[in-house]
Amino acid sequence: MTELKWWQKAVFYQIYPRSFADGNGDGIGDFQGMIDRLDYLQDLGIDAVWISPHYPSPIFDCGYDISDYTAVAPEYGTLDVFKRFLDGAHRRGIRVILDLVLNHTSDQHPWFVESRSSRNNPKRNWYVWLDGVDGVPPNNWLSIFGGSAWEYDQATKQYYYHCFFKQQPDLNWHNPEVKQAMFDAARFWLDLGVDGFRLDAIGTIFEDPARTDHRVELSLSELFTAQLNATSDEEQERLIEQWTMMLQNQVEQPGVHELMQELRKVIDEYDDRVLVGESENVVYYGDGDNELHLNFNFPLMNTGHPFPVWLKTKRLTPPWVRANQQERLAALPPGAWPCNTLGNHDSPRVYSRYGDGQNDEALARISLALMLTLRGTPFLYNGEEIGMTDLFLEDVSQFRDNRAVWLYRVAVEEFGLTSDKALAIAARFSRDWCRTPMQWSSTPNGGFSPDGVSTWLPVNPNYADGVNVADQRDDPDSLLNFYKRMLRVRKQTPALITGEYTPLLEDQVDYFAFLRTSRADGASLKEGEGQTCLIVLNMSDRAHTLNFDLNAQATKLLFSNCVRDSSSDDLTRLSIAPFEIYIGELA
Ligand code: GLC
Repeated sequence: MTELKWWQKAVFYQIYPRSFADGNGDGIGDFQGMIDRLDYLQDLGIDAVWISPHYPSPIFDCGYDISDYTAVAPEYGTLDVFKRFLDGAHRRGIRVILDLVLNHTSDQHPWFVESRSSRNNPKRNWYVWLDGVDGVPPNNWLSIFGGSAWEYDQATKQYYYHCFFKQQPDLNWHNPEVKQAMFDAARFWLDLGVDGFRLDAIGTIFEDPARTDHRVELSLSELFTAQLNATSDEEQERLIEQWTMMLQNQVEQPGVHELMQELRKVIDEYDDRVLVGESENVVYYGDGDNELHLNFNFPLMNTGHPFPVWLKTKRLTPPWVRANQQERLAALPPGAWPCNTLGNHDSPRVYSRYGDGQNDEALARISLALMLTLRGTPFLYNGEEIGMTDLFLEDVSQFRDNRAVWLYRVAVEEFGLTSDKALAIAARFSRDWCRTPMQWSSTPNGGFSPDGVSTWLPVNPNYADGVNVADQRDDPDSLLNFYKRMLRVRKQTPALITGEYTPLLEDQVDYFAFLRTSRADGASLKEGEGQTCLIVLNMSDRAHTLNFDLNAQATKLLFSNCVRDSSSDDLTRLSIAPFEIYIGELA
């Protein structure tokens, strides 16, 4: 039996470096801050961190516009401080993966500065340059962040392609020099001992070589307006199809899987590293062992469609989760390992998104329980452990997400909306809401930066109402302590890590019940001896008595968030309280 790899057993925690911990008191997070919080991370009980881009960057897209792939942003520290962080993490048994942005660089990257300097520059062909046609861009492709995907360069009289902001020109991955340079950058960090990479926006790396126009007849603003005004689900679905068609020649194009396989070979030169794709597409698992180790199960979290804007958010429900698991697990190639998440730096916060306004705390606990009991590697996002919520900014000058700035401008200039209305829309679709500084205490600035320092994004004022680490650390019933308890239970329960998944009572809409079954030696199989856990997540405010027809009479209680009268339960009449999270081991 093959032993599971560390990344199959680990719980990952995403650190957004600008907002995690400010070690030097300048209002921006940094590596010294992360070093100071390593004990916190260890005590929380996570096993690995993914750090969003920490490289030098003009911060037009909050670091996803990199101007040097082998250095540390000065505001985050130096390479030496990074090494101390890495070492400190490793000493505590915490693995560290970095964010690798392959599709594009910053327009300030020396490669692009050279590339745009003349048509004959040796780096010209490192990016995607084309002539216009009669004074207009080479085709009608759009940028995912708004406007044409082509930017005219006055000096050299050609257009360059950018799938995201024009400050993020796309690299030309058909050029072997680009591949070499980027693989060298990856090796630079692997040589330092980092444990792998989360790969940004892999679906956009190649474009249709024939550069075929998309054939959607609506303009971008028409589509946006239609979307903002759409009232029915059907109308929304139809518009989403239009978006997909608009971008279809710019995503998932030939070449990307060969590239991922090559990158996998680079990683495999090193011991035990991992690649995680920012894609929901299971094809990036390759044959199960030759492309990426993990790809996010985004369909689980996307109860409302994520693109181009968060259209609607809906509760996570048992039928939704069951259907997702059935489809996802069946779609994985043999040997591939699932990977679940409910939040990251691009999406609304778990607490806000899956709450109902009345039972948000209970639902946040259910969300964590789901992450830690479903089959696969969970990814958590910093701040969710204290129930941080989305912050809606009240002034456009506070926006740091340039996508929201763009939307605001379009809403005013093209749709003719009042600035109040434009602000309401832009604030709703800004990713700033989930990127505010971590709330460490109830002192001013939430203990993120010293009193009086202006932080790069405002601190959510609810730090003063108990949404902070210090207050929750001392409260045994807090969300933070709940996270710690559940993380501990997962670590001590092999079936939750290795076990196969079997749904039970599948027609129930209030609760989600399932088994996780593992073998005694730690490897999983379909059915059999070893540990079997029964998990019931009651996602409703109603109590239930459940009757299971299983090859066991009773369960030994491993975890519940409610007070139960005994440490074992009769499986033919298992009572479950509203919002109860129940984990029992089958006797
Ligand atoms: C990814 C990142 C997002 C970024 C985009 C462009 O989707 O998660 O934050 O804006 O790529 O790099």
